[in-house]
Amino acid sequence: MLRGEPGIGKTALLDHAAAAAGAMRLLRGTGVEFEAELPFSELQLLLRPALGSLAALPGPQREALEAAFGLGPTTGSDPTLVGLAVLFLLTEYADETGLLCLVDDAQWLDRASREALLFAARRLHAESVAMLWWVSTAPPRLKTSPPNCPWTAAMVASSPSLPCTETSGSV
Ligand SMILES: Nc1ncnc2c1ncn2[C@@H]1O[C@H](COP(=O)(O)OP(=O)(O)O)[C@@H](O)[C@H]1O
Ligand SMILES: [Mg+2]
Repeated sequence: MLRGEPGIGKTALLDHAAAAAGAMRLLRGTGVEFEAELPFSELQLLLRPALGSLAALPGPQREALEAAFGLGPTTGSDPTLVGLAVLFLLTEYADETGLLCLVDDAQWLDRASREALLFAARRLHAESVAMLWWVSTAPPRLKTSPPNCPWTAAMVASSPSLPCTETSGSV
């Protein structure tokens, strides 16, 4: 897991890791703020390419994941079974080529996705799966020159909690 401020180059580094993956399979996802309250939203996006292996899962794990993704009866998703299902699916998808699993802006992962992925990550040992998480640690710093820029000046005035650095140029 890599933490860093916005703009420091985390996504660029993930792009580089993806390009260097070679023959490894790749799963890549990005947390987004407006889906952070939707259970399993990011997990579903991340695992979508691997869902072809669903049939290989042991019954209870498959049913739990199908319930989480709305693919089967929604009788409630046991978090442990979902975590085990994610572990199984990642291992299955890694096959013999290996798997690189990249999660950008993990601070916006919905809680259910985060817990399932962490559950699986803690149990990866010799499964040929590498997982990289990038986390932004601070809100973006707003650079503005209020006298020259009425729009940003108005934003700052209406959002006093935003950190603001004044510069000599215009935005
Ligand atoms: N090594 C680098 N050399 C030059 N520009 C870079 C480098 N890494 C990132 N950038 C540029 O810096 C900006 C922010 O990078 P980004 O990866 O989006 O940051 P973050 O994901 O940490 O917010 C982007 O415009 C990106 O193209
Ligand atoms: Mg980024």
